[in-house]
Amino acid sequence: MMMVSDKYFFSAVRRVNEIPCHLDLNEGVWLSSIAEGRVVLEIGSYKGRSSCFIGLTARMLFCCEAFCGQKSIRNDQSVVDFREVRRAWYENVSNHKLRARIELIEMRSEDAFDIIREKCSGELGLLFIDGGHDLENVMNDLRYTKLLIPGGIVAVHDYSHPSYPDVAKAVDQWSKTNRHEFKELSAVGTMAAFVAMQKLYFSSSQPVIS
Ligand SMILES: C[S@@+](CC[C@H](N)C(=O)[O-])C[C@H]1O[C@@H](n2cnc3c(N)ncnc32)[C@H](O)[C@@H]1O
Repeated sequence: MMMVSDKYFFSAVRRVNEIPCHLDLNEGVWLSSIAEGRVVLEIGSYKGRSSCFIGLTARMLFCCEAFCGQKSIRNDQSVVDFREVRRAWYENVSNHKLRARIELIEMRSEDAFDIIREKCSGELGLLFIDGGHDLENVMNDLRYTKLLIPGGIVAVHDYSHPSYPDVAKAVDQWSKTNRHEFKELSAVGTMAAFVAMQKLYFSSSQPVIS
C-alpha cells in the first residue's frame, strides 16, 4: 500500500493513467488521495482505471462489477465485448501488482448488498459510485452509503456530466433526504462527494453540557 506522499506515487500514477476510460487524471489522483489507508467499495470498474487509482493507496478495495455495460448507453456499447473488458480488468490490476488488496465481486450491485456488508464488516471508509448511470441504478447504489463509517466518504462520478442527467437527479434526491447525516465535500472534475457525519444521540436524561 502506497501513500500519496510516497516518492514512487507519481510514477505509479503515470502508469495507471495509461489504462483507458473517461475518468480524468485529476479525478484519479483525487480518488487515490481520499482512499489512503481506507477500506473502499467501488461500484463499476470497467477495465480497472479507477480500481488501480484507488488500489494504489487503499488498505483494501472491493470492486462490484457485473461486466454488463450501462442501460443508458447500452446501444453505444453493443460493440463492447465484456469478456475482453473482464480480461483487461484482471490484467491491469495484476500489472500494477494490486491483486492482493483488490477483490472483484462479479455481481450486479443491486444483488450484492448483503455480501458486501459482510465483507466490509463495519469498516467502509470510501464508497465510489460509477456503475449504471440511470436513476434506478444510482439510487440503488446510494443505498451503500448506509455502510459507511462516520467520516467515511461517498464520491459519485459523472454527477455534472451533461450526458448523464440521471446521476445528478438521483444524488440531489438522496442528499435532500440525508442532509442531516451527510455533509457535502468539495470534489474535482465531474464528481460529487459527501462525508458521513458522526451520529449524535442525546438521551433526555443526560445533560448535553455538564
Ligand atoms: C463507466 S464504467 C466504470 C468505469 C470505471 N470506474 C473506470 O474509471 O474505469 C461503468 C461500469 O459499470 C458496470 N455496471 C453497470 N451497471 C452495473 C450494476 N448494476 N452492477 C455492477 N456493475 C454495473 C458496467 O459493466 C461498466 O463496466
